[in-house]
Amino acid sequence: MSAPHRNVELKGHDPDPAATLAAALAHGASDEGVIRQRDTYLAARTGRLKLREQEPGGAQLIAYERADEASARQSAYHLVDVPEPAALLAALDAALGTSVVVEKERRLLLHDGVRIHLDRVRGLGSYVELEAVAAPDSDLAAEHGKLARLREVLGLTDDRVVPEGYAALLLAAGEGTQRLVALAHAVREHAHAPYSRFHVGVALRDEHGGLHTGANVENASYPQGQCAETSAIGALVGSGATRIEEVVVMADAELVTPCGGCRQRLAEFSSPGTPVHLCGPEGIRRTVTMGELLPLGFGARDLPT
Ligand code: THU
Repeated sequence: MSAPHRNVELKGHDPDPAATLAAALAHGASDEGVIRQRDTYLAARTGRLKLREQEPGGAQLIAYERADEASARQSAYHLVDVPEPAALLAALDAALGTSVVVEKERRLLLHDGVRIHLDRVRGLGSYVELEAVAAPDSDLAAEHGKLARLREVLGLTDDRVVPEGYAALLLAAGEGTQRLVALAHAVREHAHAPYSRFHVGVALRDEHGGLHTGANVENASYPQGQCAETSAIGALVGSGATRIEEVVVMADAELVTPCGGCRQRLAEFSSPGTPVHLCGPEGIRRTVTMGELLPLGFGARDLPT
């Protein structure tokens, strides 16, 4: 694996890609043509892991960490060339699971060491992305300066900046929900519920796109049993994640809902708007929010400081 590279980058909505292209060319950017890209995001335990397949061009595995913030961001990454993308993808999907797939058409322009991406993303729309690749010993001041100048030329104003990555935007729009449902179905098969015979499977998506599962674990000493939600939360926290973005609960009941204690446990890591899909074995029966499940709940904000 190569040494980590560094980028400073910024992305925003592009309501008029033709005008952005014209402005970039008028400013002296070179047009490097159009690339079709398919990024498959794997549910990595820590950080982000994606396989990028490019046409023209080959495939690369990319591992990186990135904070979501509405400013020019710095990201560290590792790149590995992949000669057999289909085989690698099958292996990674079997081992880790796929979180989401992002497909886009990207026009690449170059200007003074900055890559300008004019992206049309399936299911999301048009975006402009600026990426300054940093020299190894740079303090990043020059890269931030170049980005600031290009933003002005291209009219990438603050109100258009989008801090989230395309994968996160697609997941927030529900693109990963059926994968969570399938995971809940699979983990439910492993429930240890010989006393109630009520098998529950839960799947959670974290703030990095990581997917976590748990089943209920009962005990001959009945009060020692634990719910599927609790098992899944333990897996999420153990991975290093700190937020729950989406919940799937599955059981063979008319409408299974998390018990009172698990609503409180889920609320510790989620927001009132976090979706909770209540499922039977065949799929989603009803979707509610955490706020609906636990109105007026107690939280860390209620503790004395
Ligand atoms: N149970 C869960 O795991 N999650 C729920 O949302 C409801 C109930 C488990 C606890 C116990 O093992 C069994 O279902 C019957 O209550």
